[in-house]
Amino acid sequence: MFETTPIVVGLDIGTSKVCAVVGEINDSGGLNIVGVGQSKSRGVRKGEVVDATLAGEDIRNAIVEAEQMADTEIRSVYLGVTGGHIRGLNNRGFHPVVSNDREITDDDVQDVIKNARAINLPAENKVLHVIRQLFLVDGQDGIVNPVGMFGASVAVDVHVVHGNLNRLQNPIRAVKNLQLEIEDVVFSGLASSLALLNNHQKEMGSLVIDIGAGTTEFVVYSNGIIKHTGVIAVGGDHLSNDLAYGLKVPLSRAEQLKIDHGSALVEPEIKGHTITLTNDLGIPEKTINLEHLRRIMSLRLGEIFQLIAKELDQSDLLSHVREGVFLTGGCSRIPGIETLANQSFHLPVTLGKTNSISGLKSALDQPEFAAAIGLARFGSFEMRKRSQEKPGLQTTITQTFKNLFGRS
Ligand SMILES: Nc1ncnc2c1ncn2[C@@H]1O[C@H](COP(=O)(O)OP(=O)(O)OP(=O)(O)O)[C@@H](O)[C@H]1O
Ligand SMILES: [Mg+2]
Repeated sequence: MFETTPIVVGLDIGTSKVCAVVGEINDSGGLNIVGVGQSKSRGVRKGEVVDATLAGEDIRNAIVEAEQMADTEIRSVYLGVTGGHIRGLNNRGFHPVVSNDREITDDDVQDVIKNARAINLPAENKVLHVIRQLFLVDGQDGIVNPVGMFGASVAVDVHVVHGNLNRLQNPIRAVKNLQLEIEDVVFSGLASSLALLNNHQKEMGSLVIDIGAGTTEFVVYSNGIIKHTGVIAVGGDHLSNDLAYGLKVPLSRAEQLKIDHGSALVEPEIKGHTITLTNDLGIPEKTINLEHLRRIMSLRLGEIFQLIAKELDQSDLLSHVREGVFLTGGCSRIPGIETLANQSFHLPVTLGKTNSISGLKSALDQPEFAAAIGLARFGSFEMRKRSQEKPGLQTTITQTFKNLFGRS
């Protein structure tokens, strides 16, 4: 009988573009990107949907383009979400082992995770992910899988990602209005990290930073587990705003200057260099000081890195990031950004590359697509997991993330 190859679709509704990535899952469970659709994003500010009608049109355009390229019909998506309201926190749950022989079972593990996710959140917040870290049995820590061990009590550390329910529902509604099913909702920062990091990098300790147009997401892994997730509602749009204000040019001009002449560094040799802006008729209109332009960019980018460093320093996390910092998102294209990040974190810095994913090079090489590719990858793992499960057994997001973002 003819069987179609299963597909997974990652949908990232970004501030500057909406992007849909179609992946095929090959026989060995690997992900092969076969289609990408993109549309300019007009209904999103700082990573959040603020105009559902415009966002809906842009999502539809991206989906249609991806369908055409992949020559398939898209019925469901893995949806990325972000925004300054999203928070990550670590929590510990406890559970007494009740069986007579005190052998820890799968049920005990489910129960202790349930307890770990019972955190006091504001009523308007919703848990997005509960990601397992490590277990403790009778106080002995560092246990990856306690099933089959003996003990009187089991505890688990989890990383919980949560956000404001109403604000999370805006992108969900925009997608559902297009008669598309949502397989799962995933924090975009986690998705980007999934596209970039291999297991070794997660073990050694890595910081992934995705700097987009309206938000910057960051995720820390160490010893193979997620230690921290965060979002700052600042990105490339703010660089452009700063340039428009500081150089006294219209925003569209500022955006172009950023892309054509921008840098994260103010190198001494550019001192005195100027850029002449011309009007529509080609007549010189204004002169821009290049040093001034780059200083504005350097200050804002440096501030983003400092905010992240400060947040991570509070939990002494930077010392765990031994493999280094991986930059992605559109702003990782800014020349000199690795050097600036290196100066801010005092760690090796690399421009992130998608790993263990095949297919369209035009998609895999673009830092803007990391989140959407990671969403498709998330989907491929989830599908594989489902196909391996006994019928009737539901995959929980906790189990999935255990495999994806923790040890595998
Ligand atoms: N060569 C470049 N130089 C400077 N900035 C760039 C360059 N290329 C892209 N950018 C900036 O990257 C940003 C877009 O990145 P990206 O596509 O990752 O954002 P997004 O996913 O739409 O937004 P967000 O994740 O914040 O919601 C824009 O601010 C754009 O100006
Ligand atoms: Mg983005």
